[in-house]
Amino acid sequence: MKEWGKFTEITKAKGVWLTDSKGNKMIDGVASMWCNVWGHSNPQLVKSIQNQSKKLQHSSMFNLTNEPAEKLANTLVKISPGMHRVFYSDNGSSAMEISIKLALQYWKNIGNKKKTKIATLENGYHGDTFGAMSVGYVPEFFGKFKKQLFSTVQFPVPNKYRTPKKYTAANYEQYCLDKIEKRFAKNDDIAAFVMESGAQVAGGVIIYPKGFQKKISQLCKKFNILLVLDEIATGFGRLGSMFQYQEQKSNPDIVAYGKMLTGGYLTMAATLANKKIYDSFLGEFNEWKHLFHGHTYTGNPLAAAVSFENLQMYKKNNLIKKIQGKSKIFEKFYDEILDIDIVGDVRHKGMLMGIELVKDKKRKIPISPKKSINKIFFEVGKENGIYLRTLGNIVMLVPPLAISETELELLLKRTIKTITTAKSKVI
Ligand SMILES: Cc1ncc(COP(=O)(O)O)c(C=O)c1O
Repeated sequence: MKEWGKFTEITKAKGVWLTDSKGNKMIDGVASMWCNVWGHSNPQLVKSIQNQSKKLQHSSMFNLTNEPAEKLANTLVKISPGMHRVFYSDNGSSAMEISIKLALQYWKNIGNKKKTKIATLENGYHGDTFGAMSVGYVPEFFGKFKKQLFSTVQFPVPNKYRTPKKYTAANYEQYCLDKIEKRFAKNDDIAAFVMESGAQVAGGVIIYPKGFQKKISQLCKKFNILLVLDEIATGFGRLGSMFQYQEQKSNPDIVAYGKMLTGGYLTMAATLANKKIYDSFLGEFNEWKHLFHGHTYTGNPLAAAVSFENLQMYKKNNLIKKIQGKSKIFEKFYDEILDIDIVGDVRHKGMLMGIELVKDKKRKIPISPKKSINKIFFEVGKENGIYLRTLGNIVMLVPPLAISETELELLLKRTIKTITTAKSKVI
């Protein structure tokens, strides 16, 4: 906190451009924490909030419902194959807490007392609340709370750039899968496998090898373990398809959505469950099978209205198809970025790029300056007219999905300039 002094104050934003109180303009290179879809101040989205705000701004979802929440739930179920019902919350971490509770209680509801453990992948990230921290343990973020977190059964994740010595990328992936299978076979105490869908984002843009998620899904089915997929950062087109679970040919029992669900305008998240899970919560009142969970702003009508409009716009504008074309612009700059002497690896999928900085390219030693890389990149980025946020030694490019091709090229060129300029400050 001390190193930051005053923060840059953003006073307005239009499209992909953020303007600060001094009139400086920056391209929003992180889609306002990975949630912005259409750019800022989009008239259609703003109008949907205004219109809804004239009718109903908030109403409890305890014993009640509201039209926007109903409409949105129907749409979400329609576009999410295999899913049956929606449970709303107001941020991704809560959506994950709900996912974990649904998965654990499912086994209790059907009378299975043995399945009480959660399996996870190392280096995963699912949010900052205690349950979410427990299933997504990243040592740098959560180390101080380790004693308070519940234990999980963790498995390694293949990272092509950092495959341990004596393995190839392919046989290390197999090693990870074998480890999972052996543990699943040993004891049937695992209730659910929780993982990010398609890629680990906060963990450094670790894109899973093709087939990895599918194989985990198959192992879950084989050993009667629920699969919980976190689509909060990767869903709604970030990795180039609407939902990664479909692209990865995996069959989750529970999925969590957040971030881009509202287009980045209001706060809302959703946990979807298949029929098997939903039905297990149906019982007589005195059977106590219902889920004791709810938040004040669950199913907020304003957030639901803007989410519904956002999803209509995806369809009308054929956004996913457009992203697939635009994604190729990242590839155009790939070699140029990799050529920078402090860049060790560049990982890209859809509208997401992670640029791993190293001080020794050959030996892949991450840069570890005394000052924070994040602050240096923020400041140099700002001078170059872009808003960047790094995670550890990874420069993250996560622009609003509807960024124009020209703006995306500008963002990439300015990122290259920023890395080159910041180089002497971080080494
Ligand atoms: C994969 C994933 N899950 C969950 C979360 C938590 O979402 P929120 O910040 O809305 O609580 C994040 C946030 O970055 C995330 O990347």
